[in-house]
Amino acid sequence: MEDLELTINKRRTFAIISHPDAGKTTLTEKLLLYGGAIRLAGSVKSRKAAKHAVSDWMEIEKQRGISVTSSVLQFDYDGYRVNILDTPGHQDFSEDTYRTLMAADSAVMLIDVAKGVEDQTKKLFHVCRQRGIPVFTFVNKLDRYGKNPFELMEEIEQVLGIRAYPMNWPVGIDGNYVGVYNRQQAQVELFAKDGAHGQSVLPSTMGSVSDPAFRDLLGESVHTSLCEDIELLDMAGDAFDYDLVAAGELTPMFFGSAMTNFGVRPFLEEFLKLAPAPVARMSSEGEINPASEDFSAFVFKIQANMNPAHRDRLAFIRICSGKFTRGMSVYHAQSGKAIKLAQPQQFLAQERTIIDEAYPGDIIGLFDPGIFGIGDTLCKEGAKFTFQDFPVFPPEQFAKVQPKDTMKRKQFVKGMTQLTQEGAVQVFRQSEFASEAFIIGVVGSLQFEVLEYRLKNEYGVELLMDRLSFSVARWLSGDEQAIKSMKSIDSGMMIRDIKDRPVLLLSNEWAIRWVSERNPGVEFLEIPPDT
Ligand code: G4P
Repeated sequence: MEDLELTINKRRTFAIISHPDAGKTTLTEKLLLYGGAIRLAGSVKSRKAAKHAVSDWMEIEKQRGISVTSSVLQFDYDGYRVNILDTPGHQDFSEDTYRTLMAADSAVMLIDVAKGVEDQTKKLFHVCRQRGIPVFTFVNKLDRYGKNPFELMEEIEQVLGIRAYPMNWPVGIDGNYVGVYNRQQAQVELFAKDGAHGQSVLPSTMGSVSDPAFRDLLGESVHTSLCEDIELLDMAGDAFDYDLVAAGELTPMFFGSAMTNFGVRPFLEEFLKLAPAPVARMSSEGEINPASEDFSAFVFKIQANMNPAHRDRLAFIRICSGKFTRGMSVYHAQSGKAIKLAQPQQFLAQERTIIDEAYPGDIIGLFDPGIFGIGDTLCKEGAKFTFQDFPVFPPEQFAKVQPKDTMKRKQFVKGMTQLTQEGAVQVFRQSEFASEAFIIGVVGSLQFEVLEYRLKNEYGVELLMDRLSFSVARWLSGDEQAIKSMKSIDSGMMIRDIKDRPVLLLSNEWAIRWVSERNPGVEFLEIPPDT
């Protein structure tokens, strides 16, 4: 028991949230470099480039050279076992990106110093906030010109509504920062000039800010402006309060450059100290303590057809309590069946390895005979609880789909049902007509392609797909009559979700406001009313 607790306390499972191009791949790679998991930076990137050559499972992936799946990267650093969950971005931004956050205990929000808080970061941040997980901020690309650090602190607060506490502060002048000042230790760390795009660990020199040698090294004006900044931060800034960080109300902020490695090690070390180990999770039977000896886990992602020859599916589970051992039998709450976990897989980048044991905070992939759904619970045989339902994430793109060949209706319905269960798309139907067509909603447009591809290849159904021009959905709550007689909704589309709850599709936020003002008896909700 004590051993289990120690093992759990050393685990850090987190996701990096950012807008495309902020440097997530680069930072991930540098964390691996500092963790000793790779020897020279560049290998993750080249793997990214060569992905279509090695991936063997899905044509879309091959054609576009992108990864449709999120995997996990694991390494050890300073006694910690680090699990970085990959959050798909770019064109592969999808509900899976959001769902990955359900498996994380904290998040690192990566911000480009020149661009500040961008759109995708905002969306991902809000999911973290809803979950109440701590968010740590890394301001990246400090080797370039960018916004003033005080301005960025304010932007984070204004745009995201979270206070920022700088753990360190850039030293030097914009476009030519030379180090970071560690506020807790009152120490300056200056980094050597990097000439090789941070391929290796970057040497640095540490010393006290009041050391005359550092003052000389920095030059009078840089030293004076650093001292002024420090004074201002200490006087006007927030105090560091770990409880606020844990509650997701204060974000510890770090500065650096993933490309040149500047500030990467100080960030990693401080982050690992502050980031939470796996904590208790809520279930139908109350909180499940990670150190409980009884195994439990939930499914947060399902990926189909890793190997087209076998048509297998993989369910990714996040372990919540107890110890996992290969071959163990567990109870699958949703089907009521016992399942033997014979071939657990762990994913390190794109390589699979069979694993023998794993602990709370770890992610493993299980072969799925087609019984798992998103959010399903696995627990010890005899225990009968379920973890809280996964939230529904608001779709942003919509299409009307039906089979090209009406004779294929049965396969079409079967495929759509299966893919909905996996969480590949959200399915709706038009309320007034018993139409042949379904309305589907997705977060990222890649999900449309996946749907089309999989229905054709797995169910033999070619789709007719009409993209709809709506981009927001609102679940309607209120009196059934008030909803039926809603006014001014001609420009929208009334649909129902799979639980028969009414949903209104409209083209933008402005239209939502306009309609809601004219229908005061109806509430417009971003997520279903009972979640
Ligand atoms: P992403 O996964 O968040 O989309 O970003 P990625 O790491 O691929 O980085 C996007 C671009 O930003 C890359 O440039 C990368 O080299 C650059 N970058 C990342 N971190 C830093 C940094 O600290 N400083 C600077 N100056 N650039 C950074 P690219 O031109 O798209 O690719 P590449 O030719 O450099 O590989």
